Amino acid sequence: MSKSTRVPGYMQSKGARNRGPLGDREIRYKCSMQNTILDVLRARPGWQEVSGEGDWDFHWCDREWLHANYDTMFLQEHQKILHFRNHYELTRKNLMVKNLKRLRKQTEREMGKKEAESFDFYPTTYELPSEYHIFVEEFKKNQGIIWIMKPAAKSQGRGIFLFRKLKDITDWKKGEYQPLTDPNREVPETYVVQRYIEDPYLIGGRKFDIRVYVLVVSYNPLKVWLYRSGFARFSNSRFSLDSIEDAYVHLTNVAVQKTAPDYDPDKGCKWATQQLRSYLTAKHGSDAARRVFQGIDNIIIKSLQSVQKIIINDKHCFEMYGYDVLLDDKLKPWLIEINASPSLTASGKDDYDLKHGVLNDVLNVLDLENRLTGKEKRVGGFDLIWDDGAVTTDDGAMECSVNSVSTTSNSFLGCHCDRKKHLREIYTAAQALKKSTPS
Ligand SMILES: Nc1ncnc2c1ncn2[C@@H]1O[C@H](COP(=O)(O)OP(=O)(O)O)[C@@H](O)[C@H]1O
Ligand SMILES: [Mg+2]
Repeated sequence: MSKSTRVPGYMQSKGARNRGPLGDREIRYKCSMQNTILDVLRARPGWQEVSGEGDWDFHWCDREWLHANYDTMFLQEHQKILHFRNHYELTRKNLMVKNLKRLRKQTEREMGKKEAESFDFYPTTYELPSEYHIFVEEFKKNQGIIWIMKPAAKSQGRGIFLFRKLKDITDWKKGEYQPLTDPNREVPETYVVQRYIEDPYLIGGRKFDIRVYVLVVSYNPLKVWLYRSGFARFSNSRFSLDSIEDAYVHLTNVAVQKTAPDYDPDKGCKWATQQLRSYLTAKHGSDAARRVFQGIDNIIIKSLQSVQKIIINDKHCFEMYGYDVLLDDKLKPWLIEINASPSLTASGKDDYDLKHGVLNDVLNVLDLENRLTGKEKRVGGFDLIWDDGAVTTDDGAMECSVNSVSTTSNSFLGCHCDRKKHLREIYTAAQALKKSTPS
């Protein structure tokens, strides 16, 4: 599985490659991960792994490495690195909501209530312990509803639980927040408490959420690429509100579901986003399905705008986000969280192929080989949806084969994704253009 598929028509001759800032030499990369991304980098023609302190052009680093090194390193013109310095403004659950609330307020002030309603895609959320008292007031106003408690900076479902009564969290609160006499006790961990979506859209009686891949290559100006494919992650057990302590019913994380006693690794618990879009289209019609995916576009753009002025923009940095989106039974998409290090470990052959494709296309968009014109609106499975403003489709380019979409937005989440064919076409076109243009 470790071999990538070569895209015919590129990197064939030495003379045809690296006419960019790297000249005619190989691209040197470092990689902190041992999963699909390493396979992708190793199989990429013309790329060479460097170890230790060796000089590099491209670094797929982990967040810890970036935090430890970013402030003391000087990035040279040709270097590209994963993550922006303060990516946590969007990827920590408490900060994401804080930033969204701020932009929502500002929008209401400047553009009115109606416009601000376009931010109503995240469930009511409070940070704990700092907003505990406001939460209690809100709790009392809505007796009987279910809340979900989540550590702000953990992942894979760790530390999450649901509750209905304030008394249910008293013990937890004592353990976490009561001042202890022990002077060495660490500062209490930050949590978010969030309104639980009690009426998720179910398929076959099961809850799922959608993983969406988004590539940001610049925050100033904001430039955003959306990957056509992703997946819906299903829970293993039928949904019910009777057993709110059962993680297999309520948490759709693969890390949780794969530990279920009846989990079948061959069947897995995923559907490709294309399959989900087809299902929704067949069941509710193309307009309803289109609204779902337009709603997800809105979530992506608004959330990125909420941190646009806060993220330390650096032309050397890029981010590949994994969005978690949940649909309720009225088909309204809700933003659950945004990950800066979405899992790149594959749970099966289809999952491996998907992740391999996404990662290769991240490298294709970044184009360290300088094979593109820079004007492309689509590269493989990625469509450019925002480039300092909404990106519209080229005339007549209604490419979604699932239904006849009449959209003008260059967004094709869940649409057909023949990435290899498309890559062949754009590389051939770019090569022809470069040949015909005197340098
Ligand atoms: N407000 C919510 N309503 C319904 N389900 C939720 C809610 N928040 C989280 N979940 C479920 O719990 C899972 C894990 O929550 P998430 O916020 O993504 O934390 P983690 O970082 O641990 O993945 C989600 O994938 C979803 O299935
Ligand atoms: Mg998650």
